[in-house]
Amino acid sequence: MPHVVTQSCCNDASCVHACPVNCIHPTPDEPDFHTAEMLYIDPATCVDCGACVSACPVGAILPHTKLADEQLPFLPLNADFYREPRPPAPLLAPKPPPLRVRGGEPPRVAIVGSGPAAMFAADELLTVPGARVEVFERLTVPYGLARTGVAPDHPKTRQVTDLFDRISAQDGCRLFLGVEVGRDVTHEELLEHHHAVIYAVGASSDRRLDVPGADLAGTATEFVAWYNGHPDHAHRTYDLSHRRAVIVGNGNVALDVARVLASDPERLAGTDIAPAALRALRGSRIEEVVVAGRRGPAQSAFTVAELRGLLDTPGIDVAIEGADLDPGPDEASLPHSTVHKLRMLRELDGRAPSGRRRVTLRYLVSPERITRDGVEFARTELVGGRAVPTGETEPVEAGLVLSSIGYHGRPVPGLPFDAATGTVPNVAGRVGTGEPVAGAYVVGWIKRGPTGFIGTNKSCARETVRTLVDDFNEHRLPAPKASPGALDRLLSSRREVPQPA
Ligand SMILES: Cc1cc2nc3c(=O)[nH]c(=O)nc-3n(C[C@H](O)[C@H](O)[C@H](O)COP(=O)(O)OP(=O)(O)OC[C@H]3O[C@@H](n4cnc5c(N)ncnc54)[C@H](O)[C@@H]3O)c2cc1C
Ligand SMILES: NC(=O)c1ccc[n+]([C@@H]2O[C@H](COP(=O)([O-])OP(=O)(O)OC[C@H]3O[C@@H](n4cnc5c(N)ncnc54)[C@H](OP(=O)(O)O)[C@@H]3O)[C@@H](O)[C@H]2O)c1
Ligand code: SF4
Ligand code: SF4
Repeated sequence: MPHVVTQSCCNDASCVHACPVNCIHPTPDEPDFHTAEMLYIDPATCVDCGACVSACPVGAILPHTKLADEQLPFLPLNADFYREPRPPAPLLAPKPPPLRVRGGEPPRVAIVGSGPAAMFAADELLTVPGARVEVFERLTVPYGLARTGVAPDHPKTRQVTDLFDRISAQDGCRLFLGVEVGRDVTHEELLEHHHAVIYAVGASSDRRLDVPGADLAGTATEFVAWYNGHPDHAHRTYDLSHRRAVIVGNGNVALDVARVLASDPERLAGTDIAPAALRALRGSRIEEVVVAGRRGPAQSAFTVAELRGLLDTPGIDVAIEGADLDPGPDEASLPHSTVHKLRMLRELDGRAPSGRRRVTLRYLVSPERITRDGVEFARTELVGGRAVPTGETEPVEAGLVLSSIGYHGRPVPGLPFDAATGTVPNVAGRVGTGEPVAGAYVVGWIKRGPTGFIGTNKSCARETVRTLVDDFNEHRLPAPKASPGALDRLLSSRREVPQPA
């Protein structure tokens, strides 16, 4: 029986390199890799060796026999990718050689942040013999959005924190919790104690709606942080007393929030959800969550895996509104995942409601104004792939409106910043696009913007660390002035900074 990929996961492709029979596609060398939401295992050629399971950093691959009920739909999803014969696969590009440093003291590196990008960068650096890595996290709990973003009812995804625990327990790695770089220690001080500083600070802000009344809407960023118990957002309160909530945007975050709002709270009890959020959800009167996309179903920003998760959540009806789901003559030219998404949406269309809470996927509407009563939407049509208002409007009453239109990075003191993309300009992770900023590197969402899955940060980290090691070998990183033990003395002289975990 074959193995199966069960999550959106692309870009890392460790499994592809581990597979002895090249049955996981698309590979990074195939053209459809860049549009694929996930990779797929060919059931006809998989020899069940299990090598991909241990290579996958996020536990996305399982043998067919170990699939939980809710993962069973991934079996036909993987097989379907191979229904049409694929062109012969190009030979896999060889894996890059192991990292080596030349002469002198091995690198000492500070990493700011402890999210997935930080932990994958630490893991990559620790492959250098003798390397020392110090990770600084401003919160007293580590691992960034892997803890404070991933939905509480996705415990399997959250298990990636076990991998991060193993990385931080390796020789040469120290994790300092409750240390905010810029407040407790400066960039210059870190550089006195390290050859280089890698910023892995993520994208902690969000894109804001630019319409009248936008301040009346909450944001999915804050709502997610609230239900996940992020200390910066624990004090928030939300009005759940009305029967309808509206979420603007239809990415994976919007679907997470819709699922949490529409779930039976008892399903969430026993997960890592914040107790205050669970209490509020138990008192919620919300019956319908409208997820509003400004474009059509084929442009839905959510992935097949997240849609599957929503459809399989017990007690939730999913309805479609405002969308033309006709396959059309061009469907065959669409990416595999889009074809699948449309097929899943078509199966839903016309399904009789069961009277439970419902999530309505509403298409071709863009908010024109937020009011105390809800949202005034402009109806839109697709013109050249863009949403253009038709001139018709549609009010939707709601007690809670959340915008979920993407995250946005914040400037890092002392580093250049591109305000439009919310990223630190860099070349392959080295900060600066002209003259580089000495000793400064970036990885993860602050490097490439707020897109991608946990696994995406692994290949991103590999690139940054290779750039850093090249600079080290080319003597572009001066040896730190301070001795290794001096950092502990510096930190303990500041505030009540906790000792490394
Ligand atoms: C709501 C949500 C749900 C998601 N769910 C999934 C999912 O189910 N599956 C999946 O594959 N991907 C998921 N993702 C995507 C995934 O979480 C991201 O790809 C990943 O977390 C980005 O990693 P990062 O390290 O760049 O940033 P982050 O995870 O945000 O980590 C940044 C870290 O830096 C710390 N920090 C910031 N400033 C400082 C400072 N000055 N000093 C010290 N520390 C600092 C922060 O506290 C934080 O811990 C989700 C994303 C979101 C937003
Ligand atoms: N389970 C998981 O694997 C998981 C869970 C959560 C998040 N993530 C990942 O984390 C990343 C961030 O997710 P996200 O949901 O925040 O962002 P996203 O995927 O970029 O989705 C943003 C949504 O907002 C819409 N939008 C943007 N600007 C708008 C505007 N001005 N008015 C109306 N709508 C607007 C977009 O529509 P257009 O397409 O029309 O621009 C899109 O529907 C993604 O890569 C996601 O896959 C993964
Ligand atoms: S189980 Fe073995 S043969 Fe099957 S996909 Fe994984 S690595 Fe390839
Ligand atoms: S996360 Fe990476 S290793 Fe795991 S299945 Fe996806 S591409 Fe393969």
